[in-house]
Amino acid sequence: MSRHLCDDTDARRLLNPGPVAIVTAAWRGMVNAAPIAWTAPLSMAPPLVGLVIHPHRHTADMIRFSEEFAINIPPPALMKQTAFLGSQTGLNTNKIEAAGLETFSGMRIDAPLIDGCLAWIECGLQDVIAVGDHTLFVGRVVRVQALDEAYAGQWLLKDPAFSPLTYIGGATYASIGRARDAVVQTDAQGALIIETAEEREQREEEEARERELRQAEGDEGFEEMSVR
Ligand SMILES: Cc1cc2nc3c(=O)[nH]c(=O)nc-3n(C[C@H](O)[C@H](O)[C@H](O)COP(=O)(O)O)c2cc1C
Repeated sequence: MSRHLCDDTDARRLLNPGPVAIVTAAWRGMVNAAPIAWTAPLSMAPPLVGLVIHPHRHTADMIRFSEEFAINIPPPALMKQTAFLGSQTGLNTNKIEAAGLETFSGMRIDAPLIDGCLAWIECGLQDVIAVGDHTLFVGRVVRVQALDEAYAGQWLLKDPAFSPLTYIGGATYASIGRARDAVVQTDAQGALIIETAEEREQREEEEARERELRQAEGDEGFEEMSVR
């Protein structure tokens, strides 16, 4: 398993499918981590990303004081740890240790990076903007790393173990599934062709395969019953 350096602008692609982020910060010898679902790519040049955090969170104070943060993007294997980090404040406890997570040093900032994640975005704090009851922390991306198995210019989504985790709500998470390319074609009138001839052929083949599978399963079930 190895990590590779990405371009700073890759930060916005890494955030494309809305993966849940574990945000880490360090200040005066303390470290903290909290899951943050409200993330957004904000600008390409300069590369800026945003975190929307409630001002009561300890993470919000840590970012304000240290003026930097890291976004760690966890795989499904770290779902429980992610939920744990979001279940309590790190004001008086080292949640990273309590969650059994290992860290490694960032390349440009002091915030720790979480081992076992798929990608890491190191940021300096560029701006703090009040938005309703939350605060938008604008980060200037200073370093981006990702696992080869997970990301190559965009999320690969080939192996569910190396696909990002999305937060649905409550205790529910989903892993981002199969990647598909959208083929946008229009007819003579400029209207979208919902299903191209190729796509129809592909769909019919898939449906036929499924029918055969169901039939075969049905036959097997019948054979089993007749043996008994
Ligand atoms: C999956 C998940 C996503 C969350 N997303 C956000 C978010 O976008 N913004 C926010 O302010 N809090 C969010 N929270 C809540 C904080 O993570 C939670 O309050 C955490 O305990 C704060 O820890 P801290 O006080 O150590 O910063 C989320 C919680 C979970 C479980």
